[in-house]
Amino acid sequence: TIASLLHPAQGGQPDAEHVTIHGWIKSIRRMGRISFAHIIDGTTSFPLQAILSKSQAAGLSTGSSVRIAGTWKASLAGTAQQSELLAEDVSLLGEADPTTYPLQKKFQSYEYLRTLPHLRPKIPFNTAVLRLRSYISQNLTSFFAKNEFVQCYPPIITSSDCEGAGEVFTVSSNEKDSKGHFFKSPKYLTVSTQLHLEALAAAVPRVWTLSPTFRAEKSDTHRHLSEFYMLEAELSFVETLDPLLDLIEDMIRQLVSGLASSRVGNEILSLSGDLKPQLEARWEGLMQPGRWKRLAYSSAVEDLQAAVDKGEKFQFLPEWGANLQSEHEKYLAGLYNGPVFVTDYPREIKPFYMLPTPGDDRTVACFDLLFPAVGELIGGSLREHRYEELIRSMKSHGLILAGDDSEHAGLSWYTDLRKWGTAPHGGFGMGLDRLLCYLTGVENIREVVAFPRWVGRCDA
Ligand code: 4AD
Ligand code: MG
Repeated sequence: TIASLLHPAQGGQPDAEHVTIHGWIKSIRRMGRISFAHIIDGTTSFPLQAILSKSQAAGLSTGSSVRIAGTWKASLAGTAQQSELLAEDVSLLGEADPTTYPLQKKFQSYEYLRTLPHLRPKIPFNTAVLRLRSYISQNLTSFFAKNEFVQCYPPIITSSDCEGAGEVFTVSSNEKDSKGHFFKSPKYLTVSTQLHLEALAAAVPRVWTLSPTFRAEKSDTHRHLSEFYMLEAELSFVETLDPLLDLIEDMIRQLVSGLASSRVGNEILSLSGDLKPQLEARWEGLMQPGRWKRLAYSSAVEDLQAAVDKGEKFQFLPEWGANLQSEHEKYLAGLYNGPVFVTDYPREIKPFYMLPTPGDDRTVACFDLLFPAVGELIGGSLREHRYEELIRSMKSHGLILAGDDSEHAGLSWYTDLRKWGTAPHGGFGMGLDRLLCYLTGVENIREVVAFPRWVGRCDA
């Protein structure tokens, strides 16, 4: 690959070697008898320079795919590249007509590029983001393995709405029974794998997954998708929030430290132009030792109300009992100049499965991790592990119709877990795509996902 030639491992490629590379033309400069072609193959952001004769360069243009065999040798002094490829045999594999090729050097807006989701991965920054996502998944996999977690594969098709927000996509098929269902009753694409992870955590105390999740939210914002990846972890024998928050800090700190010293991390920075210093500061901030701010919801509301008294203009007035709006989340992250855990939200605005805060029945033992710029990155909680209390909470959240205890809203398997060796437990879910936004400085989540889906749009 081009990466293995440009970034040889120690004692790697000898000079003046015969090699064959495959890739796409990034640019080509014709200088009389010879041409300089810059070739990329997605394994690194840096192009390889190849020197071609006039006839070898015929028909090549930006975007076309090539196979080039030749000699990899030290460049003449004074050139930017240390080595270059002296082409001997050039094959044009697929042409890209320069008069119609949709990706152009001139400025092209994000909105326009979103209409080309199949071509946009070829843009060097987007290519680097693909590799960044792969790096993050690898890094987290080894982090969880080191910490004795088992990676699990919970289902995508589910029989319940974990978050109870009514934002599920219903699964349907052409093969239907007399009631119009394939599975005899309505089934949904998962909004969170948490409930299934809880069942698995009742057998293996530490589990995690990185799974696609789906939400039929009508939120047409820069941080909402209809299909996104959530990293979820569930831990048994956890009785307070602190071990979860400590784990999250460790996870993100070691991820960003690894990233900062990785090749893909360097490439993201070097492709970020003016944003580079800001990104470096962001990464540096996340690597600092020490606990992140941990703040109860009630205190967060007081902070927000104090801000209003000092003249801060919010669209929604902060009020105890109401959900924090994204403007509030951003304000709090700014106030504490970094990540903030807001804990113990009012029970009424949170899902049925959360454990009440010890000593305060009005709130639940939960948290949101707020990040500057992206707002909520992670949500998690301790879970109600007691049978009677869980049934009561399901009723008060309207999940069990009065006199209909048998049905348990399709959740009898979930309540059953509380009968057979139940244990205190808790976990969290992190929006991977939002993390990518923060780490890359990309403002709109639609740009860090190759084929984004959001309300009204599913194009390719
Ligand atoms: O806060 P949420 O809804 O939490 C849960 O689903 C829990 N059951 C997770 C758990 O405890 N296992 O979602 C978790 C995270 C959010 O903090 C956010 O980062 C991301 O998932 N998220 C979205 N990301 C992109 N588009 C959307 N529509 C998202 N909805 C949530
Ligand atoms: Mg949430």
